[in-house]
Amino acid sequence: MKRLTVRAASRSYPIMVGRGVLDELGAAVRKLRGAGRVVVLSDANVAPLYLGRARAGLEQAGLDVSEVVLPAGEREKSLARAEELYGVLYDRGLRRSDTLVALGGGVIGDLGGFVAATFQRGIGFVQAPTTLLAQVDASVGGKVAVDFRAGKNYVGTFYQPNLVVADLATLDTLPERELRSGAAEAAKHGLLAGGPVLRRAQQLARAPLVAGAVTQELVAGSIRYKAGVVERDEQESGLRAVLNLGHTIGHAIEAATGFRRLSHGEAVALGLRAALRLSRELARLPESDEAAGHALLDELGLPSRLDGVRAEEVRALIHRDKKARQDGVRYVLLRRLGFPVLGVRVPPELELEVVEWLRTR
Ligand code: NAD
Ligand code: GLY
Repeated sequence: MKRLTVRAASRSYPIMVGRGVLDELGAAVRKLRGAGRVVVLSDANVAPLYLGRARAGLEQAGLDVSEVVLPAGEREKSLARAEELYGVLYDRGLRRSDTLVALGGGVIGDLGGFVAATFQRGIGFVQAPTTLLAQVDASVGGKVAVDFRAGKNYVGTFYQPNLVVADLATLDTLPERELRSGAAEAAKHGLLAGGPVLRRAQQLARAPLVAGAVTQELVAGSIRYKAGVVERDEQESGLRAVLNLGHTIGHAIEAATGFRRLSHGEAVALGLRAALRLSRELARLPESDEAAGHALLDELGLPSRLDGVRAEEVRALIHRDKKARQDGVRYVLLRRLGFPVLGVRVPPELELEVVEWLRTR
């Protein structure tokens, strides 16, 4: 097991990464949060697999545990669902000293974190991520949100967890498509960080993609990279924006496909391909680096073509992105693998061209 610490401006917290660490959740929550109530939030796929174990450990640690199980899927990340959860916490008499544990993927983590951040202006919050995507990315760094209309993560805040427990053994039951989706965020960290973070993503891509190929070093390395960025700029006043590589176009694609047809990671993979392409045009990314970036995404089996949406629709959604300014959208691009550039303006005709390129490649 690896223990890491995130030292964000608003809060420092431990992260436990390894096979079997879910069994240590109860003792760790008790140690950090003291006695009290715990509500475990999970979804209908994850609960039958892991809720019993999480619950047993929390009860053994002397905590008063109850649970809420939601249907699975991005559609749950809504204000309506958040309001229902406020009702549950209210009825169960939760106080600020009590804790919400999010046991699931990024959807449960983002929604649970949003509710924990806002209920009584903030109760305890623990992330127990069970997807590769949530382990390498979403459970760390404190971005919590719900979607609003076509606006991805449009209503949210920054709220760091008190603890993250990432059990690699939970990935054994993850469908292959979801493993690939998580690998897209690991690839993003590799493209941004270069060096060993990129090499580990490339190693993952070369082996058949099964849970056993996901190493503690890959997950911990990705987390360490992200944590380093968050520690320097928790609320995205500058540097943290690098983590949005591929996400401006990725989020627009996710919205254009109705938050259903493509998973978050698949949409991000297409966004990363667009960012690689734009980086050649606007940030002098060498051709060999662009090719290496696409090869990584190809080997991970991530989509290379956008089907069934109009380029103009995607472009309109890009400009609804919450990071768009009055004078347009600023992109994160790469000048080399491992060397991001912030704040690049992309001419409107090139935006359209790159989405058209994704549609017709
Ligand atoms: P998800 O939570 O929908 O999980 C994917 C699917 O896998 C679901 O059907 C889920 O029920 C199932 N599942 C989860 N764990 C499982 C397991 N161990 N075994 C079997 N099935 C399992 O999606 P995700 O890909 O984890 O997360 C995507 C979300 O994360 C998006 O909403 C995205 O916006 C968000 N996100 C947030 C951040 C952040 O910094 N907060 C970063 C990246 C992504
Ligand atoms: N996923 C981008 C961030 O956490 O900043």
